Amino acid sequence: MKNILFVASEGVPFIKTGGLADVVGSLPKCIDKKYFDVRVMIPKYSCIKQELKDKMKYKTHFYMDFNWKSEYVGILEAKVDGIIYYFIDNESLFTGFKIYSDNVIDEITKFSFFSKAALSALPLIGFRPDVIHCHDWQTGLVPVYLKERFQGNEFFRGIKTVMTIHNLKFQGKWDVKTVKSITGLPDYFFTPDKLEAYKDANLLKGGIVYADAVTTVSPTYAEEIKTAFYGEGLDGLLNARAGSLRGIINGIDYDDFNPETDKNIVCPYNAVNFRKEKIKNKRALQAELGLEQDDKKFMIGIVSRLTDQKGFDLIAYIMDELCQEDVQIVVLGTGEERYENMFRHFDWKYNQKVSANIYYSDELSHKIYAASDAFLMPSLFEPCGLSQLMALRYGTIPIVRETGGLKDTVEPYNEYESTGTGFSFRNYNAHEMLATIRYAKYVFYQKKREWNKMIDRAMAADFSWHVSAKNYQEMYDWLIG
Ligand code: GLC
Repeated sequence: MKNILFVASEGVPFIKTGGLADVVGSLPKCIDKKYFDVRVMIPKYSCIKQELKDKMKYKTHFYMDFNWKSEYVGILEAKVDGIIYYFIDNESLFTGFKIYSDNVIDEITKFSFFSKAALSALPLIGFRPDVIHCHDWQTGLVPVYLKERFQGNEFFRGIKTVMTIHNLKFQGKWDVKTVKSITGLPDYFFTPDKLEAYKDANLLKGGIVYADAVTTVSPTYAEEIKTAFYGEGLDGLLNARAGSLRGIINGIDYDDFNPETDKNIVCPYNAVNFRKEKIKNKRALQAELGLEQDDKKFMIGIVSRLTDQKGFDLIAYIMDELCQEDVQIVVLGTGEERYENMFRHFDWKYNQKVSANIYYSDELSHKIYAASDAFLMPSLFEPCGLSQLMALRYGTIPIVRETGGLKDTVEPYNEYESTGTGFSFRNYNAHEMLATIRYAKYVFYQKKREWNKMIDRAMAADFSWHVSAKNYQEMYDWLIG
């Protein structure tokens, strides 16, 4: 049996702000239990729902030197869907209504503590991982601390690390002096070939330099981040580590996202009966959101964090033009104020056509996947993207920009060969996007049989975890040797 420990800042069902939590919550369940024992470690945030906290059992605690203090480290444990979760507890650090704040020093302190505590806890929990699988900048110091102070200890010797990049935009950077003081790491680590980048200390960079393998969440993003446009300043390093860098596409949980058994939607359907049944979900959603009641309207769904990563500048630019056409647009999500207000404005201006739901609801997201005809995701960059996979699963045709995981998962429609599962455009250009939406709309209104055949193909595509889980297993095997 090989032991794998995921260390991450969020994971479903306990705490989620984005796709990272979905991956941490669903991938371990799909790794072969005959050969691997996969467990997960996350912080015990005070904002985790009480009913979930009630599932946790106290295991042990100790004190650890950190940031010039002796800090309490509690360890709790819970088992969900057959997976053991460990929680690192420290009430003063993991406090607040949200898990991330805008105060960079707080964030760096919190997650440096978490990374060190995660390693320090291992000898006490009776689980020695062969591989520690780290996710994003918040855990970038795990491979660094392992190298610095734990490798000398018999227990830790030979433990391998993987660093998975879910989003290169966030790196955890601050000035060297402060980070040195918080982390307690010696001068040795703060040079340009290690943690230093452009004069600052950079936690993700530490992880990329010291991990035994580096992965990201799609093959295309793995290539893109070696270029200046997508590399966020680390393209040089990623080129240097190209031999240890691979892209493994994310999957989604096919039980949670299943139009046939989905309890959130009015009318379940499948790949055989969607022609008659899917429409009932559209009717229900039009009624629920106060949109014009019309079966034939081309409904476009958007479920997203409202950040510039997701291409909302393009949408803002052509929204008035788009709203002159025969479409309905349903939006769900929260984020940057300018995008929240942009959608509120268009909801007010085109009330029968646009429904802006500026909050987050799991239930409404499922209703939108089921009800919409198309799903719009024109991202500026997209390491993988999960929503387009959910849309495909629900027979809702994605309209995407050809970047990162969107490029790897949505095959563009080819009208001559009758192939493809969606529509895509190449450049980050609002009118290129609009032309693509118009083309999709044309196929929807004028070539209904072709449209439905595209739904057949979309629903037949398989983005469950089983293929990608095998890729991770192969990597773990290769690392452990
Ligand atoms: C981040 C990325 C997204 C990816 C997710 C899970 O949220 O922005 O593209 O799907 O992580 O890997």
